This record gives sequence, structure tokens and C-alpha cells, in this order.
Amino acid sequence: MSTPVIAIRPTSADDVPAMATIEALAFSDPWPARSFHELLLHPFSRMATAVDESGGIVGYCIMLRAVDEAEIANIATAPGVRRQGVGAQLLDDAIAAGTADGVVAMFLEVRESNTAARALYSSRGFVAVGRRRAYYRHPIEDALVLRRDATAFE
Ligand SMILES: CC(C)(COP(=O)(O)OP(=O)(O)OC[C@H]1O[C@@H](n2cnc3c(N)ncnc32)[C@H](O)[C@@H]1OP(=O)(O)O)[C@@H](O)C(=O)NCCC(=O)NCCS
Repeated sequence: MSTPVIAIRPTSADDVPAMATIEALAFSDPWPARSFHELLLHPFSRMATAVDESGGIVGYCIMLRAVDEAEIANIATAPGVRRQGVGAQLLDDAIAAGTADGVVAMFLEVRESNTAARALYSSRGFVAVGRRRAYYRHPIEDALVLRRDATAFE
């Protein structure tokens, strides 16, 4: 399958319905549209949307900044474009923005059983540094806490 040509741009409020649709397909305990709107107003959030050649929204990545650390709070791609490099481009974009902005460590939580996401994060230098027991609902499952140092691939 060929890699889809996408652009990654800042999220706008108009993107939220399509993002909420992807979110509902991606997660068993999805964020409501309201959460995306609230984060658009959050002073320390960075929200990026991936758009295909026809303008369709195919993914998003939300990063929250706290001084010189950041958290990947959410990342998802549309089921129809999975395994074609869109998630990696979104994550690379967030890492590059964080690094350019002085972030020295990035964190995230991931379901222990989420092999797709864990493989993506591992390929970008994230390593497990902790576990939050019964962190997720539907179904209840532990979260692994992953960390990526800015020096991961230097
Ligand atoms: C995780 C997710 C964002 C990955 O998006 P994607 O667009 O499919 O990812 P990419 O095509 O860029 O994959 C990049 C790398 O991740 C890994 N990967 C992605 N999907 C994988 C899968 N199903 N199985 C194993 N590895 C996988 C591979 O290393 C892949 O590189 P490769 O294709 O060269 O082998 C996507 O599967 C998704 O939206 N899942 C549901 C939401 C979710 O779980 N978000 C993360 C919450 S912590």
C-alpha cells in the first residue's frame, strides 16, 4: 500500500467533529468532543491534525507542555489509513516541536495490550519507566508509563 500524502497542521475547532469520530473508532473509552474543544483553549496544549490530499482528517496528536517536559495526551489515526505512516508522522511532528521548544523529556501512558501503539512509541525512543495499575476502564487494564529523553537518538 502506498504512503498517503498528508499535511500536518494546527487543529481548529472545525476539525473537532471529525476528530471525535476517529476517537470513537479508536478507543473503547473515547474522549467526548467537549474535551477537544477544552484543550483548544488550554494554554499549554499543542494540537495537530493530519489531513489527506482531499482535505479529510485522518489523525491527530495532542501534546501537553509542562515547563521542560511534555506529555502525549492523545494520538489516533483513522482506521482506513492505519499502518501507512500517518501515526509516525504525527508523533515525529510532536517530538520535533517539543525538542525545538526545549522539551527534555516526553511522557505518555499506553494500555499494556496496545501492541500497535507500543511498537510505534518504541520506534521513536520511548521506554517504559512505570506502571499505573488499573488505570484504564472498558476494560480495566494497567497503563505503562513511557518516557522519551530528548537525547534518545543523539
Ligand atoms: C497507534 C496508532 C496511532 C498508530 O497509527 P498508524 O498510523 O497505524 O501508525 P504508523 O503506520 O505510522 O506505524 C508506525 C510504526 O508503528 C508500529 N505499528 C503501527 N501499527 C502496528 C501494528 N498494528 N502492529 C505492530 N506495529 C505497529 C510499527 O512499528 C510501524 O512501523 P512500520 O509500519 O514501518 O512497521 C493507531 O494504531 C491508532 O490510532 N490506534 C488506536 C488509538 C491508539 O491506540 N492510540 C494510542 C493510545 S496510547
